[in-house]
Amino acid sequence: MLTTRRVFLHHSLSIASVVGANGLLGSAQAKEKAMARTTGPVIVSTWPFGKASNDEALRILTQGGSGLDAVEKGIWVTENDLSNSSVGAGGMPNAKGVVQLDACIMSGPGHKAGSVAAIEGIRHPISAARRVMEKTKHVMLVGSGAREFALKEGLETAEMPTEARRREWLQWKSKQENADGKNHDTIALILLAPDGHFYGGCSTSGWAYKLSGRVGDSPIIGGGLYVDDQVGAAGATGLGENVMRYCGSFQVVSFMQRGATPTEACLETVKAIARKDPKGSDLSINFIAVDKKGRYGAAGSAQGFSYSVTTPKFSRVETARAVTAKELGPIGGNRL
Ligand code: GLY
Repeated sequence: MLTTRRVFLHHSLSIASVVGANGLLGSAQAKEKAMARTTGPVIVSTWPFGKASNDEALRILTQGGSGLDAVEKGIWVTENDLSNSSVGAGGMPNAKGVVQLDACIMSGPGHKAGSVAAIEGIRHPISAARRVMEKTKHVMLVGSGAREFALKEGLETAEMPTEARRREWLQWKSKQENADGKNHDTIALILLAPDGHFYGGCSTSGWAYKLSGRVGDSPIIGGGLYVDDQVGAAGATGLGENVMRYCGSFQVVSFMQRGATPTEACLETVKAIARKDPKGSDLSINFIAVDKKGRYGAAGSAQGFSYSVTTPKFSRVETARAVTAKELGPIGGNRL
């Protein structure tokens, strides 16, 4: 009893100091407190296109499917959408015109993880990641090894890039454009299953016209995704280079562990990164999170972003809170 109380006090103090030091968030906290607690599944994913994936994940859970099936088959919906230029076979290629896909998956029970990076020609990289987790002793396979493994597992291949993406790439190549200018998104999908366990997955084609072999945050455990069954789950989207250097999703879960709500945890992570990074709030990073109470939230850097939330009661797109340069104070403020 005493120990429990000490732990509680320690957590309260930890988060109190975080809240105090950074001037946290009265309104977001109030909103989350007011948020109806759901007892059923809560599914959260990045961007409006995640809603179709959420709906599929809910359908699977409602029919008694597992949390991992819901994550995998939910993400399939986005990977199958050839109009999506950031995920799956419809994704944008690298500088050589080759589509290299990244994905990972995590299971709260057993704290298991699987991941593939720079995999080529496989329709569902999320399934390759799941097979790595379930069928090997490893966590991550990359490049040709990842593809060989996926083929051996009987996973479906797909032609990529699509004709439309190839034409765009040729145009980019002829102009010798700088890869910096291109936007890309990612699907990260996290969920609290009806059995009280957390699961998550992430899938992307990454930065358009990236250097061959470039890997972003999405297949990095703790970068693009992190699940802790005792605490909650978090996922990221945006410029992977600005997430993976800071273990972004791990930070979000870590803030929740110390008592922050999901929105607070996402905001504090964006702020912590932005205070360290020379780019300040101009980072193109965004996080989503869900906790043990079924509360969810999101936050991003100054560019702003929207995300999808699905429960048995509703399925909708919400706007995440964006961290502005003004509220950050001086850039590099955390430095000595
Ligand atoms: N967030 C996806 C990437 O940067 O590759």
